Amino acid sequence: MVASFADAPPRLREVMSALVEDLHRFVMDVKLTPEEWREAISLLMATGHITSEERQEFILWSDALGVSMLVDALEHDLPPGATESTVLGPFYVPGSPLREYGANIASQPAGDPTWVFGRVLTTEGEPIAGAEVDVWQNGDNELYAVQDPGAPEDHLRARFRTRDDGAYGFIGVRPVPYSIPSDGPVGQMLQATGRHPWRPAHIHLIVRAPGCRTLTTHIFDATSEYLDSDAVFAVKPSLLREFVRRSPGDPEAPPGMDGAWYSVETDLVLAAGDADEPVDDGRTA
Ligand code: BEZ
Ligand code: FE
Repeated sequence: MVASFADAPPRLREVMSALVEDLHRFVMDVKLTPEEWREAISLLMATGHITSEERQEFILWSDALGVSMLVDALEHDLPPGATESTVLGPFYVPGSPLREYGANIASQPAGDPTWVFGRVLTTEGEPIAGAEVDVWQNGDNELYAVQDPGAPEDHLRARFRTRDDGAYGFIGVRPVPYSIPSDGPVGQMLQATGRHPWRPAHIHLIVRAPGCRTLTTHIFDATSEYLDSDAVFAVKPSLLREFVRRSPGDPEAPPGMDGAWYSVETDLVLAAGDADEPVDDGRTA
């Protein structure tokens, strides 16, 4: 069987041969029955049927089976001090609006306002001016804008450019834990295996700068539930941050904070290297 790939280009031959060998070994190891194989095929068909521009069930399989984190770990042998990466997830939509330093990314009330700030730096500690910080997060209804028919398209997502001192800062909301989509085949698998679908509270960021490796990461709320049982295995201790409760009269309050608010600070340290190509996940920008 593996010989059938003899004429394929070298890397494709390597990948396809190993895939087929491991797949055959798996089928023999578990003595897969015809009913189970039919069930697996129906699950794949259901995965295709439920996938759309707004719903990426294939990415969800990769996340829920730990493959996304494994691929990420193989790719990222980071130099000391660089910020660790974690999953992209299925709710990233390219083409967020570029906003000014300090802007509020919530187009409508969505939870406790939170000043999210820090600097983008090299591993030598030099500020990176003009880096792009692309952010998206959920609100207190647990949903990302792309999942929420009641939210404007650009709610809780934006891109920012760092200032000369590498600083970025924006007003978001305190994120809340949420369930990964569980009404499809991945949800069936979670239920059948007794796993829960929850993710701990986090904010997503992609940071891009010329001459640097693109960083896809999260800021996790260090006090969130589910940090030790993330449905997609994406928590890294170095990414946990404290969301500090601040008072309305706090002299550091950004304009527009007239009630209680939170702040969270994270420097984002980029490894030197080549920037990734923009993500192409089959959706239009
Ligand atoms: C997310 O954080 O948006 C996410 C990641 C993996 C699976 C589902 C959601
Ligand atoms: Fe998320």
